[in-house]
Amino acid sequence: MAKSGNYDAIILGAGGAGLMCALTAGQRGRRVLVIDHASGPGKKILISGGGRCNFTNVNATSANAQERYLSANPHFAKSALGRYTPTDFIEMVQAHGIAFHEKTLGQLFCDDSARQIVEMLMDECDKSEAAGGRVDFAFHAPISDVRRADDLYHVVYNGLKASAPALVIATGGPSIPKMGATGFAYDLARQFGLKIVEPRPALVPFTLGGDDVLFRELSGVSADVEARCGKVRFREAALLTHKGLSGPAVLQISSYWRHGQPIGVDFLPDQPSGWLRDLKREKPRTTIKSALSASLSSRLADILADRIGDGGNLADWPDRRLEEAERKLSDWPFTPNGTEGYAKAEVTAGGISTDGLSQKTMEARTVPGLFFIGEAVDVTGWLGGYNFQWAWASGVAAGSSL
Ligand code: FDA
Repeated sequence: MAKSGNYDAIILGAGGAGLMCALTAGQRGRRVLVIDHASGPGKKILISGGGRCNFTNVNATSANAQERYLSANPHFAKSALGRYTPTDFIEMVQAHGIAFHEKTLGQLFCDDSARQIVEMLMDECDKSEAAGGRVDFAFHAPISDVRRADDLYHVVYNGLKASAPALVIATGGPSIPKMGATGFAYDLARQFGLKIVEPRPALVPFTLGGDDVLFRELSGVSADVEARCGKVRFREAALLTHKGLSGPAVLQISSYWRHGQPIGVDFLPDQPSGWLRDLKREKPRTTIKSALSASLSSRLADILADRIGDGGNLADWPDRRLEEAERKLSDWPFTPNGTEGYAKAEVTAGGISTDGLSQKTMEARTVPGLFFIGEAVDVTGWLGGYNFQWAWASGVAAGSSL
């Protein structure tokens, strides 16, 4: 129910981070108002993980944070992730009787529906009353003014005004604007004098043009590859699309990619060095095309073989040329001409600079009572439950100090 009035804290955004912050503060006896312009809570949770929400990753720990979270300060996320771990979230999921399973690489998904995670978070908000707290919600509530006066934050929404000594910004980043995602957190950060690390779409498909455009004809074909951007490598599936490249391995490297940078794809990551030379000895009348189609879809094998210059049987190829072909196949160069942008980006990298925030509480160093959490902050996880774990952990960090 929307309530105008005075609170202990106002939270802008009812996504994963905002809800976690609200239930933590509420259960500590705080009176909290959560304001969102969407029609209900957790819209991104509902569509996540193909509707089953990959709600955490068992490896999303402080020990791995430096490698698995991108940030201008790779140490920043460790504190919050160390104090609220995947095990803590799993305990809540189990206490609510939500069945889940590990899919791959430590990724945990609901067996049934992402809706269960949203219902769980809302139930936990309701438990605040038993602790003397309260969490009120205002949905369909565009925010028209935010200001600080007399040590209070005043928020105007839907013609109502609420005030509190603490304000938590949990409005996420601009990825998937058609779901109501905005850069509102950045506007507020600037308003209060905080710095922004330039935001960019991440976990996003690449678009291909120029010489690479041929690969777009293979839309729908996938392969188990190792994708590389600079020194960062991911071994997972890649998917060719009518615009370019996607699939988990490609989405992962996209977070590290900068415009103009080439990427490399190892189409045969399981083949040992020298495999084409060995095959030539074993089966001299085999062609490159048939050698490739033993492991890859025949359409992909055709394009790769044509590009390498299929010159008849392997027996006709000098060993040196086979070694060159192998090298090319193990680091196939693409130069994406861009990405599919915020419209298709699973997250936004960059955001509110961690320089201005306390890693323990997420409070702005120079603006008492102002907190930033979740995707709005310059902390971006790998694909596979890392981003929700950051939303939960940063929400708890702020909620524990309201
Ligand atoms: P989030 O974006 O969830 O919430 C922000 C809230 O603020 C929204 O409710 C929005 O309506 C509100 N808001 C925004 N602007 C506002 C304004 N101006 N006024 C009022 N309200 C405003 N991660 C993961 O770990 N596992 C997964 O399975 C997936 N799957 C996935 C699928 C898809 C399709 C996407 C797009 C993303 C994922 N993610 C994911 C990423 C994950 O969804 C994301 O990291 C978190 O939802 C971020 O949580 P936040 O609460 O920070 O922002």
